[in-house]
Amino acid sequence: MKEMASLLRIVADETRLRVLRLLSETPLNVTELTTILGLAQSGVSKQVGTLKKAGLVRERREGLKTFYRLSEEGEVPEEGRPLWALLMDRVRSTEDSRHDLVRLADVLEAREGDTPGLHERLLAPGESWHAWSRMIMTLLPTMERAVDLGCGGGILTAELARACDEVVGVDISGSALSAARAHAERVGLTNVRFVEGDMTTLDLPDSCCDVAVLSQTLHHLPDPMVGLQVAARLLKAGGRLILMELLPHDEAWVTDKLGHLHLGFAATDLESMMEDAGFRITSLETLPPSRSERFRAVQACAVWE
Ligand SMILES: C[S@@+](CC[C@H](N)C(=O)[O-])C[C@H]1O[C@@H](n2cnc3c(N)ncnc32)[C@H](O)[C@@H]1O
Repeated sequence: MKEMASLLRIVADETRLRVLRLLSETPLNVTELTTILGLAQSGVSKQVGTLKKAGLVRERREGLKTFYRLSEEGEVPEEGRPLWALLMDRVRSTEDSRHDLVRLADVLEAREGDTPGLHERLLAPGESWHAWSRMIMTLLPTMERAVDLGCGGGILTAELARACDEVVGVDISGSALSAARAHAERVGLTNVRFVEGDMTTLDLPDSCCDVAVLSQTLHHLPDPMVGLQVAARLLKAGGRLILMELLPHDEAWVTDKLGHLHLGFAATDLESMMEDAGFRITSLETLPPSRSERFRAVQACAVWE
C-alpha cells in the first residue's frame, strides 16, 4: 500500500503528468522540456528531480547534456507496477497533450538542426532564407503604408516595416501587442504603430494602405469573410492582400488552447471568399508539409481592384 500511495502522490500533479507524457515519446533534457512546457526552468528541474527520486524516470548523460527517459515497467517499484502501467496507458491517450506534442515535434526538429556547425548551416541552400528574403525586399519600391491585421507578436509587422514608410499592427490582444511593441523597439523601428482592438471595427480610413496582411487571423474570426472585407476597405485600388491560412486539420485542441474558431480552410473556399470580397488572386500556393505534418498552410497574394 505504501508504494502505491507514494506513486499516487507523485503523479497527482499536472506538470509531472505532462513530463511523463512527453518522456513516453522520447528522452528529453530539461531545456527541451522547459521549451515545450512553457514553464520556468527551475520548476521543471524540480519536477523532473521528484520523478527521478521516485524511480519513474531515469537519467542518461550524453556529452555535456543530461537526458531523461521514462522508466521501464520493470524499473518501477514492484508494488506500483500495475498502477504505473494503467496510468501511462491513460496518460498516453489523453487529448489534452496534443499542444505539447506539437511543440515536441518543433523541439526535435530544432535538435536535428543543431547537428551541423553554424558555418555549414549558413552555407546550406535555403538556410540563409531569412537574410535573403530581407535582401530581396530591398528590390521593392517603398510602399506608403501596410496594415498587419491580427499581428500577434509583431514579427511580420517588423519585417514589413523595412519596405514601408509606415506599418500599422492591429491586434485584439493587449499582451500580444506588448510583445510586438517590445520586438519593434528591440530591432530599433520607429515607423511602426500598434492599434489595440477588434480588426472588424477598426477606426482607420478607407483606401489608406498599399498592403494588407492577414496571417493566420481569419481562423480567429466568427465570420472570416468580414476579415477579407476589412482588408478590401483599407486597401487603395491596386493594393495587395497577402494571406496565410491553415488548411483543414483535425487538431480540435486549438479551439480551447489557442482560441481558433475554424479548423482551417480549404484552398478553394479561401479562393471563393477572396473573389467574393472583390480580390483578383495573383498567386496561391500550398506550403510543403511541416515535419510534424499536423498543420499545412496556404499562402495567397491578391489585388484589390
Ligand atoms: C495565430 S495569431 C497570428 C499572429 C501573426 N499574424 C502571425 O502570423 O504570426 C492570430 C492573432 O489574431 C489576433 N486576433 C484574433 N481575433 C482578432 C480580431 N477580431 N481583431 C484583431 N486581432 C485579432 C489574435 O489575438 C492573435 O494575436
